[in-house]
Amino acid sequence: MTAQAGKIRVAVYPGSFDPPTHGHLNIIERGAHVFDEVVVTIATNTSKKGVFTPEERMDLIRQLTKHLPNVRVEGFTGLLVDFMSKKDYHVVLRGIRTVQDFEYEFQMALSNKHLNPDIETVFMMTDAKYSHLSSSLIREIVMLGGSTKGMVPEIAEKALREKLSPKK
Ligand code: PNS
Repeated sequence: MTAQAGKIRVAVYPGSFDPPTHGHLNIIERGAHVFDEVVVTIATNTSKKGVFTPEERMDLIRQLTKHLPNVRVEGFTGLLVDFMSKKDYHVVLRGIRTVQDFEYEFQMALSNKHLNPDIETVFMMTDAKYSHLSSSLIREIVMLGGSTKGMVPEIAEKALREKLSPKK
């Protein structure tokens, strides 16, 4: 892939976002500084059964990024590389929190490259203050009645609580 002068640099930030955390938002905000556009993409036919429907996650991310004019949210079905080829997107943006993340991210980046050599994955280190955040742990905390204040944006916490809070 060669750099083309004047071409708009779009980064695709794919994920499950179930729920979107402060860590995700931090990557989106920093990505929006580095790239001309960030397209947050949510897989709509993933085998992972989510708490939120893909539409609910897209809606949450739209609300959380409305202050960022160069961020868009899109859903996709099937392989990420196929969605990207169709849209003429070439860069995947992913955040890395820990060494454990690295192996999974490495496999995914190389598999995507194998499937489509035109696609580059760019990694951003998480902000240290968010490196412990994980959507699955957040779901568990809420399910067991704990507070996730400071871990997820307020609207996401409220929506999660409505779905998962233990019945009194
Ligand atoms: O937030 P996650 O769960 O780590 O995101 C994983 C995601 C959605 C980026 C990944 O599972 C994905 O790209 N799914 C779409 C289907 C696909 O292309 N699978 C092959 C990946 S090599």
